[in-house]
Amino acid sequence: MAMKTTALIISILFFRIVSGYAQEPTYYKDIAAITLTHCAPCHQPGEAAPFSLLTYEDVAKRASYIKKVVQSRYMPPWRADPGYRHFANERTLTDAQIALISQWVDDKAPEGKPSDAPASAHLPVPGTLFSRKPDLVLTTADSLHLPGDNAERFVIFKIPFDLKDSANVEAIEFFCNNKRLIHHANYAIQAVPDPAIDINNTVSYVNATDDDRTKVDQYMPYRKIMSYYGGWIPGTSYEYFPKEFGWVMPKRGVILLTVHYAPSATDETSICGVNLFFKKTPVTRVMKVVSFGSGGIGEGQIDPIFYIKANKVQTFTLEVTNPSGDQSLLYVWPHMHLLGKEYKAYITTPAGDTIKLVHIPDWDFRWQEIYRFPHPVKVTKGSVIHIEGTYDNTTDNPANPNNPPKNVFSMGDMKTTDEMMTLMMGFLPYKEGDEKIDLK
Ligand code: HEC
Repeated sequence: MAMKTTALIISILFFRIVSGYAQEPTYYKDIAAITLTHCAPCHQPGEAAPFSLLTYEDVAKRASYIKKVVQSRYMPPWRADPGYRHFANERTLTDAQIALISQWVDDKAPEGKPSDAPASAHLPVPGTLFSRKPDLVLTTADSLHLPGDNAERFVIFKIPFDLKDSANVEAIEFFCNNKRLIHHANYAIQAVPDPAIDINNTVSYVNATDDDRTKVDQYMPYRKIMSYYGGWIPGTSYEYFPKEFGWVMPKRGVILLTVHYAPSATDETSICGVNLFFKKTPVTRVMKVVSFGSGGIGEGQIDPIFYIKANKVQTFTLEVTNPSGDQSLLYVWPHMHLLGKEYKAYITTPAGDTIKLVHIPDWDFRWQEIYRFPHPVKVTKGSVIHIEGTYDNTTDNPANPNNPPKNVFSMGDMKTTDEMMTLMMGFLPYKEGDEKIDLK
């Protein structure tokens, strides 16, 4: 026994020495390609993270901190259980990448030579989480002043556009100079082809909390043809439509962007908008976004009634039958608020199969991603969509906004202190062979 242990220790030491000589990791040779791809898109000026990870100095000065957060898998943030199902946009590091970062940190973070950097070690594109510069940036007209009075605010912005031509959308991304203030944002892309309808001389925003709400009526004429409806919640990157999938950005219209600002104790300003990325190839499969649960289909059927009692941990379920023909599902986007603890969604088919959609074992309000499937998921007619949400309304939940906990009853409401149990899904009619299409 002792002999065996000694032999094992010697061989481990030997391996360490040999591998140490053979491939001592350096920043440029090994680490930059990982941190620039997996960390820097969020850790750059203007993005959600509190500091940059763009240079050797940025990374080296936080080396031991970085080792800790990658080993615990707190960073990069990815809350979906990889044992339940994998996604095309999975952000997790591999065990080998984590080991490499850890070894580099243990070796005192050597810099190495810039000329050793592989081609993949390039800086992220500023101002976007997508891989290239946007083809079109549409921004709110003015920066909005938000007084630091701890009030929540709902503001509806109008962003008019009049392009040379319509365009096929490959990706769309919400941006804001002050993402940390935002609870969520939704945007409707409204086509307004009729030149008799003025898109410019109406108010550029309505502050639905402080203003006269009837101002919103000015936007009524725009709400006739909706080309797309998307959104952003903390943690979300961009919405991406590969290959022949997507939607078409109309030539003329407005974006109606609703931003829900969380309470803030300091004065702030906010400039938001959307980045659009176009593709030359045609969009023959136009998708739509459908929302189930709170604020969507089946809201009234949540079981039991969506009433979360103080000092209780409770699970709610929703079952909705797919009423239309066979569909292909491209992504799911789960949503709960601060009391959320665990989230699961799956489908049962009329043939008796279960299709796993997403499981988030340890819900964190700060990280809510759009989960894209590697291949379209076929949802046959008559399939049942199941959503299960567990909520922790006790003092054990550090995110609980109420201390002592309060009863929470929510119907279609979207304040941070209310709750939601929602699943948004990107759908389109099924076509033979969809399951085989690679969506990466
Ligand atoms: C999707 C965006 C995103 C990605 C990708 C990301 N981070 Fe972060 N990171 C954040 C945000 C936002 C915060 C601040 C919120 C927080 O601390 O929880 C943060 C916080 C941190 C912190 C401070 C943690 C703490 O406890 O205060 C470290 C260290 C860190 N990130 C390192 C990394 C490293 C290393 C990577 C890549 C391997 C990475 N991050 C990838 C968004 C991101």
